[in-house]
Amino acid sequence: MQLKDFKLERYFGIHEFTAKYLLSSSDCDGYTMQDVLNTATVDELERWNKLQLGYTESEGNPLLRQAIRPFYKNADLDNILVASPGELNFVLMNTLLTANDHVIAIAPSYQSLHEVARSIGCAMSYWLPDEQTWEYEPEQLECLIQENTKLIIINFPHNPTGAYLSEAVLLRIVEIARTHGIYIFSDEMYHKLTVGELPTLPPIQDVYEKGISLWGTSKTFGLAGLRTGWLVTQDKTVLRKILAFKDYLSICNSAPSEILSIIALNHIEQFLDPNLEKIKRNIQYFQEFADAHTDYVRFIPPKAGSTAFVELHIPETSLVFSDKMVAETGIMTVPAEMFGFDGTYIRVGFGRAILPEILERFSDYLKTNYTA
Ligand SMILES: Cc1ncc(COP(=O)(O)O)c(C=O)c1O
Repeated sequence: MQLKDFKLERYFGIHEFTAKYLLSSSDCDGYTMQDVLNTATVDELERWNKLQLGYTESEGNPLLRQAIRPFYKNADLDNILVASPGELNFVLMNTLLTANDHVIAIAPSYQSLHEVARSIGCAMSYWLPDEQTWEYEPEQLECLIQENTKLIIINFPHNPTGAYLSEAVLLRIVEIARTHGIYIFSDEMYHKLTVGELPTLPPIQDVYEKGISLWGTSKTFGLAGLRTGWLVTQDKTVLRKILAFKDYLSICNSAPSEILSIIALNHIEQFLDPNLEKIKRNIQYFQEFADAHTDYVRFIPPKAGSTAFVELHIPETSLVFSDKMVAETGIMTVPAEMFGFDGTYIRVGFGRAILPEILERFSDYLKTNYTA
């Protein structure tokens, strides 16, 4: 297995904690420890204060899985497995796939969604959107299927484009996969971050017996520091294999993170509602910015999620642009190259309260350095 560098994470590794302004974060502002504990009931607080810092259940604290269960249909505790999102993605691919398999992955995408499968030796095909609309067509997905296609990897709400589907289109994808006996891994890290017209999609595990859903606390809840994620699927064999693999990695989760995650899940609206309002407001701000800067940017507002992929009218690559801007202004952007995508795009994130201030500086920078 030869994993290539995770470009996006390496780029964040260089700039995230030194750049003054982050224009491209996909998560919402992180809540504080106090925010979480303030929402806790008396019982939850007691559980927190009396928490013993020993090992916890490998599958995830049963109370945490109990808190996750109501978000899914027909899920028992043994349909749920908790670990960090990246670990779950990595282990799922390594237990489900071999070098003889063909995999179809949504693109552009968060690199681990395709790189792990590629590193295992799988033949890869990429399901691409229409660049004018960021729409993904199920018919194009169907054309990519081969005899040995084992897995389809999707991600809606989509990072980075903000693409989303209607339920009818999701069910069409399920029908296609079912006809060919293909698993669907659905990265639902941005689940419920839906401020557009399309209603929230059901998790794939609710609508497909070979569907595997991934969600966690990083994006929807604004609690990335907990590192909590979970897989839910009706296919318990898949989960059993992942659990056996996990014994070689984290073994179990961080006990304090599990308790804080339980509190967050039990009071989801306290975390989600302010995030939705912030994202909605910031999309409006960015729309006004884009309207006032049509010579510089082309903006397709996200249909869901917390990010958009914005085209810049610049004479250089987006990597050169991003490197220069962070050096000269302290504004960090994520260029298209971090998603292995051609074109002069940058990701813009809507989950941070500071966005309007960044946009003022971004506007000055564009007007000073680029001709309209
Ligand atoms: C689509 C997608 N999946 C998975 C992850 C990983 O989530 P986490 O940061 O909680 O490990 C991210 C993070 O940006 C993401 O955008």
